[in-house]
Amino acid sequence: MGHSANNLAAVILAGGKGTRMKSRLPKALHPVLGEPMIFHILRAVARSGVPPERTLVVVGYAGDKVRQAVAEQGPYLFAEQAEQLGTGHALLTARATLENLANPAENILLAYGDNPLLTPATLQTLLTAHFETNPLVTLATSLADDPTGYGRIIREAPSGRFQAIIEENELTAEQKLIKEFNPGVYVFKGKWVWPALSRLKKSPKGEYYLTDLPGFAAREDGGTVELVPVDPQDILGINDRVQLAQVGDIFRYRVLREHMLAGVTIVDPASTYISAETEIGQDTIIEPNTHLRGTCKIGQDCRIGPNSILENATIGGNCQVFASVVQDSALEEEVSIGPMSRVRPGSYLEKGVYMGNFAEVSRSRVGQGSKQSHFSFLGDTTTGPNVNVGAGTITANYDGVNKNKTVIGARVFLGSDTILRAPVRLGDEARTGAGAVVTKDVEPGVTVVGVPARPLERKAGQPSQEPTQNDGDGVSNP
Ligand code: UD1
Ligand code: MG
Repeated sequence: MGHSANNLAAVILAGGKGTRMKSRLPKALHPVLGEPMIFHILRAVARSGVPPERTLVVVGYAGDKVRQAVAEQGPYLFAEQAEQLGTGHALLTARATLENLANPAENILLAYGDNPLLTPATLQTLLTAHFETNPLVTLATSLADDPTGYGRIIREAPSGRFQAIIEENELTAEQKLIKEFNPGVYVFKGKWVWPALSRLKKSPKGEYYLTDLPGFAAREDGGTVELVPVDPQDILGINDRVQLAQVGDIFRYRVLREHMLAGVTIVDPASTYISAETEIGQDTIIEPNTHLRGTCKIGQDCRIGPNSILENATIGGNCQVFASVVQDSALEEEVSIGPMSRVRPGSYLEKGVYMGNFAEVSRSRVGQGSKQSHFSFLGDTTTGPNVNVGAGTITANYDGVNKNKTVIGARVFLGSDTILRAPVRLGDEARTGAGAVVTKDVEPGVTVVGVPARPLERKAGQPSQEPTQNDGDGVSNP
């Protein structure tokens, strides 16, 4: 890129109430594809080359909430617009902070917080044009059959020279026919823009419009205004909840398309929701009605869905998640889950774990090759490899005050309906009989049965009773 980070800063306007949203939540925090819409803009700005420490967010209505959410995303700068007197006034609130930077910005990239479809590429096109031609203002422009609601671009006939932006409610009947509109992305020359702001006049609506600035540059200051055409699909603003849904849909398809082009099969895009920050490996198949939320990382050759919800899940290659839920957890490769199972936050399933139907794990580590299914629950548990969790087995991990730990050794075999009253430890190759209520630690290799469970005593000469190995359906009571 033809600019150094030093001479550029960005301003995102997010001070407005978003009256047309008819909401108590500030507009900037309404989710698009599961994340506050402003996060998408912040990412586009960062990826276009302006780091968070040179990006200022103007907050106003419910400013604390917006500030708090944004601050978690990086070391952003903030300015408080106490009264929402318009977009021009909003930019003015950013002046002091930006002029006091160690390296004051010579150029200001400005975008609105309600434009989440903005891409780094669009911003870069604008910046490149700005640094090449060095005008007072570089302005994105676009065309739509029906640009109702947007400010319109007024050009001089016949030269086509830019003259002004006029807001919707001040358009004449003739101007309403203009199809060229203002997408709301600008690059301003810093030295020019700060003093120019003081020339803004209150509109009949009682607001100071930022959109008057390009007109000043062209008509009054004899400067140039550089117009850069952008795709209307990349700059649709969100002003009400109809547009929220429309923009959300465009965003969703954009993300799905990128995955498909990169080698992921998405069987039914219409019912598939994949967050912007999710990564998916080649030849993975995403079945219908699947939701990948937050930051998910999915390996190659997996089959996810149908009807699965993954949130902040890390999934190795060759895994299957069938009609199940995985939250804030990691699966190594070749893990199979479901149907109707749930991996709750803080869990880690090692390679080859099989979690069949109606199984739940929470804050647990399940060892390589272990099997669990049929209405069972492991909470605050660590298991060794090749453990078999019988049907109906649960860890009683909560005593009403504390969550207690269960530690299960390698190759332990838990009979059907075992209750493990935590805290408790079972040594390697320990076994439990069906219905055992285990209240005390079990030594390696020992079989315990009954309520409360006691070591099984074998009479000399009798063959030991081997539990049947049937994928966790458990053992018959000895
Ligand atoms: C604005 C533009 C319009 C453009 C459209 C593109 C102005 C006057 N109009 O209209 O030309 O076509 O965006 O989407 O700029 N904000 C503040 N403080 C305020 C008022 C607004 O921070 O006092 C913020 C809002 O939170 C919002 C952004 O500025 O993120 C734009 O405000 P909005 O009311 O949505 O303007 P539009 O009517 O969409
Ligand atoms: Mg808007």
